[in-house]
Amino acid sequence: MSLLKKQAKLLAGRLGETLFPRVVEEIETGQHSGRDLRLKRAILYARSQRAKKQGDDQTSQNTLHQFWKTDTGNDFYMLYGHRFQDWFLGPHLKLVDQIEDYMQDNSIDQMIEVGCGDGRVLEYCAKRLTGIKRFTGLDINPMIIDANKTRYADNHALNFVSENAQDWVPENTGPGTLLFTYGGVLEYFSQRGLNRLFQRHTQQHGSVIALVEPLDPEHDLQNDPDSHIFGQENSFSHNYKRILEKFDYHVRFEEEHQMGPIRWIMMMATNSKPRNT
Ligand SMILES: C[S@@+](CC[C@H](N)C(=O)[O-])C[C@H]1O[C@@H](n2cnc3c(N)ncnc32)[C@H](O)[C@@H]1O
Repeated sequence: MSLLKKQAKLLAGRLGETLFPRVVEEIETGQHSGRDLRLKRAILYARSQRAKKQGDDQTSQNTLHQFWKTDTGNDFYMLYGHRFQDWFLGPHLKLVDQIEDYMQDNSIDQMIEVGCGDGRVLEYCAKRLTGIKRFTGLDINPMIIDANKTRYADNHALNFVSENAQDWVPENTGPGTLLFTYGGVLEYFSQRGLNRLFQRHTQQHGSVIALVEPLDPEHDLQNDPDSHIFGQENSFSHNYKRILEKFDYHVRFEEEHQMGPIRWIMMMATNSKPRNT
């Protein structure tokens, strides 16, 4: 986005916030009316810019969650469906290989995919990771979850829930649970939010976290343990290894790679120590 466009969007957002309380209410209550999408996006943009300037990570996170919960996030699933074929079945499939290797010696009872989107990654994992009994796709966007319930109605291995992961995961994790995210999901949590998401899960015996997330190209993971806002979406770049190690998790697999402008990290970490350490 050019500087001029950014400024126009910011102005439209600021004005929209004051002049259209009904639109603000739709954003805050996560309504999918399909109306005023551009205005809603401009308001969210103005809010996230303000939160970033004020260093208010809680509001930054809320704004990101509101974007995905409201109809402002719906287009994504149509526009970026190719990611499954080109990215997940491409360079990111290595992460599933790692989970499969881990399962040679360890059992996983359930897999929770946070931010499952259109459910294709979860469907693939259910076909391949046959030792896992339950597969839950969780997404804050109710529209995509409704679509998944219809699309996968005949696949009884899959279960879909529309909730904010921050509330749902701590209540529903348990021993032998794999928490999985693909394609940029944890980037919508602040560092505090991530700690809250991980806290209870990481205490579970035999629990696992596997993720594929984007990072700020400038984030120096060797020397900087903190999370930062980055990119056009004002999302968060996290130092996953440092965060997981604080929870006494053991990183078993870690790999970074660049795809176009995106710096990706893949990681798998477990509550149990790998045998050879
Ligand atoms: C960039 S999309 C990735 C979707 C999918 N994993 C893929 O790669 O196609 C991010 C997804 O995370 C979901 N999401 C964002 N914040 C969430 C939260 N707090 N709880 C559950 N889902 C969330 C969004 O609704 C969206 O579907």
